[in-house]
Amino acid sequence: MPEQPLTGHNCPGDPCTIVIFGASGDLTKRKLLPALYNLKVLRLMPENFAVVGVAVTDGDDAAYRAKTTAEIKEFATRPVDDAEWDDFQKRMYYLQGDFNNIETFHRLGDKIKEAQAAWNLSGNVLFYLAVSPTFFAKVVDQLGAVGLTNQTPDAWRRVIIEKPFGHDLASARELNENLSKNLEESQVFRIDHYLGKETVQNIMVFRFGNSIFEPIWNRRYIDYVQITVAEELGVELRGGYYDHSGVLRDMVQNHILSVLSLIAMEPPSSISGDSVRNEKVKVLEAIRPMDPEQVISNTVRGQYGPGLIGGTRVPAYRSEPDVNPQSNTETFVAMKLFVENWRWAEVPFFIRSGKRLAQHTTQVVIGFRRAPLLLFGEDVQTNSKPNRLVLHVQPDEGITLDIHAKRPGPNINLVNVPLDFSYSDFGEGMAATGYETLLYDCMIGETTLFHRYDSVDASWRIVTPILDVWQALPARAFPNYDSGTWGPEASDALLAKSGHAWHHYPLKG
Ligand code: BG6
Repeated sequence: MPEQPLTGHNCPGDPCTIVIFGASGDLTKRKLLPALYNLKVLRLMPENFAVVGVAVTDGDDAAYRAKTTAEIKEFATRPVDDAEWDDFQKRMYYLQGDFNNIETFHRLGDKIKEAQAAWNLSGNVLFYLAVSPTFFAKVVDQLGAVGLTNQTPDAWRRVIIEKPFGHDLASARELNENLSKNLEESQVFRIDHYLGKETVQNIMVFRFGNSIFEPIWNRRYIDYVQITVAEELGVELRGGYYDHSGVLRDMVQNHILSVLSLIAMEPPSSISGDSVRNEKVKVLEAIRPMDPEQVISNTVRGQYGPGLIGGTRVPAYRSEPDVNPQSNTETFVAMKLFVENWRWAEVPFFIRSGKRLAQHTTQVVIGFRRAPLLLFGEDVQTNSKPNRLVLHVQPDEGITLDIHAKRPGPNINLVNVPLDFSYSDFGEGMAATGYETLLYDCMIGETTLFHRYDSVDASWRIVTPILDVWQALPARAFPNYDSGTWGPEASDALLAKSGHAWHHYPLKG
């Protein structure tokens, strides 16, 4: 597997200073620094670069270098080469400061200049806001106030933020207005880590790099689409955040609708930047927001009770740390959506996501219509399953196409056989955090894999009416599924209404 970004670029990113706000946090040590290290090993980091970490925790350059040197050994996704890391850590700087204090940002300007002089850097600066979303607007305001967001033709300034982009439609709009006081839309890189996953990027290659699927990729041949994002994990130590969020905001508004739009979009005219994003947003705009009656009949919410995960007893959501013991926050959602355009009219898109489910898996199942004629008799026809295409996004990345074959023997009997492709056949190549492509793309100014604001807005327009109805009619029977199951029974009933059923694909391998 060639370790290259989707965009096909394989030259190093632009020389730049990378400023990470939240430098002592989890995301930085687990993902961002290991990803930058991987890019360096792959020769995709520019020869000239520096990293400036900013956080409230006390520290200085030397302490930060020592701390990250210890951490990289734990979190790198490949064995750490001493010489390679030594060169990396020398380029790291640390600034202790309060984000509310403008003086921090004046000092940041000086620190950036220091790094630029030491490493012969141009004026390009990438700001990564690995901080709570409550700080997004504040940090950008302060950067703007000291002139750090100002671009010149030979010095770009880019800001990466990661979801949640708002809590609902109104707050998403407010955040966007605040950001746009200091930044052009082209300077804002909204990360969705699902778009950094190889198999999610592969959806585009699969659809548009092969000629055989596109002609059947529509309502004439496709009966339904299912997207499952199931986790075995509970809320872990994020109860404080999650209890104000729930799965609809946490997973559907961003990751799942983004995957759905890749599945459903029209072929873009090119693979970069706005061509893809234009097509994706059209899909979201074609999903009509539900009215209250549709919310009641087309959505199911759930919350996990205690149960068994991998043989171990786990507590109910309401007993998790920092969760309100009477919480009505949903940890499971299933819903039926329609993309109302000529390609997809009347094809149901079933999506579901939840925590503490029976299996950790993300899969897209494309269900094809039955063969039109009873050539092999009614029994065979009704007992055989229509063709299905399964895109296994994680954990065992691959693609399965279920087809029919004749079972060997004197009479005609059909058997479903899987045609399987597994990413592991590529061997090495997946030693990544999922952030490499995204960081690299930001450095070269490639925007395809980042959310443009119009798609954020369109996603909130889909999700907010559901949140409103759920808030007006609090769930009565929470918790309503045991940990370690596939969610509440109503989730199966939702599909049964139209003669469908969830596919619980066994893990491959
Ligand atoms: C995050 C959510 O965006 O995605 C988490 O906030 C969730 O709640 C995580 O666990 C799932 O990501 P992945 O890559 O493990 O499927």
